[in-house]
Amino acid sequence: MKKDVLSITDLSREEIYELLESAVDLKKKRKAGEPTEFLKNKSLGMIFEKASTRTRVSFEVAMTDFGGHALYLNSRDIQVGRGETIEDTARILSGYLHGIMARVMSHETVKKLAEYSTIPVINALSDREHPCQILGDFMTIMEHKKKFEGLKFAWVGDGNNVCNSALLGSAIMGMEFVVACPKGYEPKAEFLEKAKAIGGKFTITDDPKAAVKDADVIYTDVWVSMGDEAEQEKRLKEFATFQVNTELLEVAKPDVIVMHCLPARRGLEITDEVMDGPNSVIFDEAENRLHAQKALILKLMR
Ligand code: CP
Ligand code: NVA
Repeated sequence: MKKDVLSITDLSREEIYELLESAVDLKKKRKAGEPTEFLKNKSLGMIFEKASTRTRVSFEVAMTDFGGHALYLNSRDIQVGRGETIEDTARILSGYLHGIMARVMSHETVKKLAEYSTIPVINALSDREHPCQILGDFMTIMEHKKKFEGLKFAWVGDGNNVCNSALLGSAIMGMEFVVACPKGYEPKAEFLEKAKAIGGKFTITDDPKAAVKDADVIYTDVWVSMGDEAEQEKRLKEFATFQVNTELLEVAKPDVIVMHCLPARRGLEITDEVMDGPNSVIFDEAENRLHAQKALILKLMR
């Protein structure tokens, strides 16, 4: 049976540990220049309704490393842009490809792709979640902290798609999760309920200092996500006191790691000083997207 990954909750704690182990191994092999042609003659379709640097390049390179092929399918250039249904597109692509990843405006689109295709479908970011990001992030936390249980993960900023996956992922892996955001920008109740059902320990505050007190991980993301551009002016005002800067870092543990899914708006949600400073693991995190996704597509497509 094919497996889809639309949410981080489509993976169990055991599966996440297995993926991270495989990702570490694939990272070693890549650095050593060892051949890894595990997906020879296999093709991954990559549907994009939104912009991307990391996700597009890392998935494409992953398929190259595996001896397979990746097809970049901008939604404006394929027939869905002219009214062909997602359901029909899913059926058609299933006849050619061995896997699909999709970055979509609405989560419903990636759900429909999964429902109507006979090949694995991966959510490469929707309005609800960004599970691939969190896998790369967890790999980075593992490399720097060697464990998840008992860590305090402080999210500072918008309770958005990446925050939802981080919240749910933390619940799965046993990390305490704190969100600091302006009132009205909390993760939606259904995500909080889901995290609670998994057994997650989380709190929500509008005080960034309280959130990062003794934190092991500080994570931030843009204040204006793709699709939220109309609210830009309002958001920039409301988030102004939620910047991750040196003053905020002083409250966290001295060995706190600072993370950001990127792209960053330097000088807004994060300062240059922190992003380029000794606590930042942001560029390792970006690289780890490649290794973690390689582990994921190997699991789903091999
Ligand atoms: N973090 C992330 O998904 O980056 P891109 O939007 O560049 O793919
Ligand atoms: N929250 C951001 C993440 C980008 C990778 C967005 O959805 O635009």
